[in-house]
Amino acid sequence: MKDYKKYIGSILGDIVSDMNVNEITAMVEVPSDEKMGDFAFPCFKLARVLRKAPNLIASDIAEKLSNEGIFEKVEAVNAYVNMFIDRGQLANELIKEVRDTGSDFGNSDVGQHKPVIVEYSAPNIAKPFHIGHIRSTVIGNALYKIMAAIGYDVIRINHLGDYGTQFGKMIVAYRKWGNKEDVEREPIKTLLSYYTRFHQESEKDPSLEDEARATFTKLEHGEEDETRLWQWFRDESLKEFNRVYDMLGITFDSYNGESFYSDKMARFIKELEEKKVMEPSMGANIVNMEDVGLGVALITKNDGSTLYITRDIAAAVYRKETYDFYKNIYVVASQQNLHFAQLKEILNRLGYEWYDDIVHVPFGLVSLEEGTMSTREGRVVFLEDVLTKSVEKTKEIIKEKNPNGENLDEIAAQVGIGAIVFQELSNNRIKDYTFSWDKVLNFDGETGPYVQYTHARCASLIRKGFNLETIKDFDESMLGEISTEYLKSDSAYALVKLLYNMPQVVLEAAGKYEPSVITRHIINIAQAFNRFYHEEKIITENEAEARAKLALAFATEKVLSKGLDLLGIKAPERM
Ligand code: ARG
Repeated sequence: MKDYKKYIGSILGDIVSDMNVNEITAMVEVPSDEKMGDFAFPCFKLARVLRKAPNLIASDIAEKLSNEGIFEKVEAVNAYVNMFIDRGQLANELIKEVRDTGSDFGNSDVGQHKPVIVEYSAPNIAKPFHIGHIRSTVIGNALYKIMAAIGYDVIRINHLGDYGTQFGKMIVAYRKWGNKEDVEREPIKTLLSYYTRFHQESEKDPSLEDEARATFTKLEHGEEDETRLWQWFRDESLKEFNRVYDMLGITFDSYNGESFYSDKMARFIKELEEKKVMEPSMGANIVNMEDVGLGVALITKNDGSTLYITRDIAAAVYRKETYDFYKNIYVVASQQNLHFAQLKEILNRLGYEWYDDIVHVPFGLVSLEEGTMSTREGRVVFLEDVLTKSVEKTKEIIKEKNPNGENLDEIAAQVGIGAIVFQELSNNRIKDYTFSWDKVLNFDGETGPYVQYTHARCASLIRKGFNLETIKDFDESMLGEISTEYLKSDSAYALVKLLYNMPQVVLEAAGKYEPSVITRHIINIAQAFNRFYHEEKIITENEAEARAKLALAFATEKVLSKGLDLLGIKAPERM
């Protein structure tokens, strides 16, 4: 498809030889008021170059542009040239492209198969997969799909939090108060209760903290009993996490988390020392980055144990050596901004010139209506409960609307989970937000179910229009020749323009690492389609007209299902 702005820029470049094409293209505007055309060109700047009144230049250019086939109308209004694209041509180009590419519409090859790592989710073992983790999981999954759609080879990593001093605490707590059956029945909730108890008891008896530290050191040295318990906590936790990933339809290429690097850190500790990046400080080792405003990072404690950032240094280099990434993207909360800034700076000081290919994609905090979440105090909402509750609620709504519908369970799962994911991706990711059951389960307005419903409406029109049982029986050749003169109304044209822009929108979302760009765009498409649907009869007596309008419904169906797919949401054919 044409990039209209560029195309117009090149035509203008031929007309106005006194300026260079790129400069001219940059001057082409999209007027905020559609009455002033699809594109406009202001002539003030040219007036200085050509030493001629801007309104005279505008009428001159307008006259020359009128001969170009891509416009329906070109007018000069004062110093502006207003251009109206030929509506039929645009619709034709769009429908042809969607017919040719199908579910690949919107894809491109700008990534040229360069390897990109997207790290997301990364929950902590033996701690709940709570509503706070949904953000990383869902944003990361969408970014993976978006980057893959524009041609990158994406490697999906779940950097599990399966290591660290908290495992010393967990093991101590389990030995003191634990019970095997309880853990097996309900691993995370049980382990969490031990962890909470540990913190309560250690306030009264601080020696517990020392015991936990000693236990973690044993784990670091690979002692059998500690390792066995740790492995068991990890296995049981993963079973629970995988239940959630299955519900969300999310998979990973690697689950190499923090523990994977436990035997890979020595090399870097040595390297940090040799390159004088690190310095001893009261028995510990630190990297001082005060000079660049990044504070001090602790690399090893005075008992020799390593830290979160030590493992991240090893992980970054391991990933470079294993995947030779073009970009290494971390989808992690904005609370860790300093951590990632320090990580990059340390890699820089070690002389790894790819340090700048590390991209931290931060997102805002989730809080509960009753306050911030706190694992220690046991104030958490479990993601699995949220998803299950949403599916149940959806089931009730669908049953009410359509008591005899088929596949109720499957559709309720797709819509209920889609609703949560969609709302998660609706706002700019950096914004903080408060989790609220009411908002999540409100299925009116600008929500996932609304977009899914519009998609199902398009599918239903196609089934009806071509007498099909299911949309899978649809073959786009049934559309035949399209008479685009029936797609020139304002509502049809507004829809065509939005659909046409989808590939640009996917690129924009990738460039900004911002899935909400797509979320907003498909809401706009759904609204534009529904306006078209309410203003015009689609399956009319006139067969050519019906086919043209069905072709537009077909394009809408394809683009909506593509958009939902890029967000990690299913697009059911019936609702
Ligand atoms: N497990 C960590 C947490 O829940 C997130 C890990 C982020 N990734 C990393 N490479 N540091 O806070």
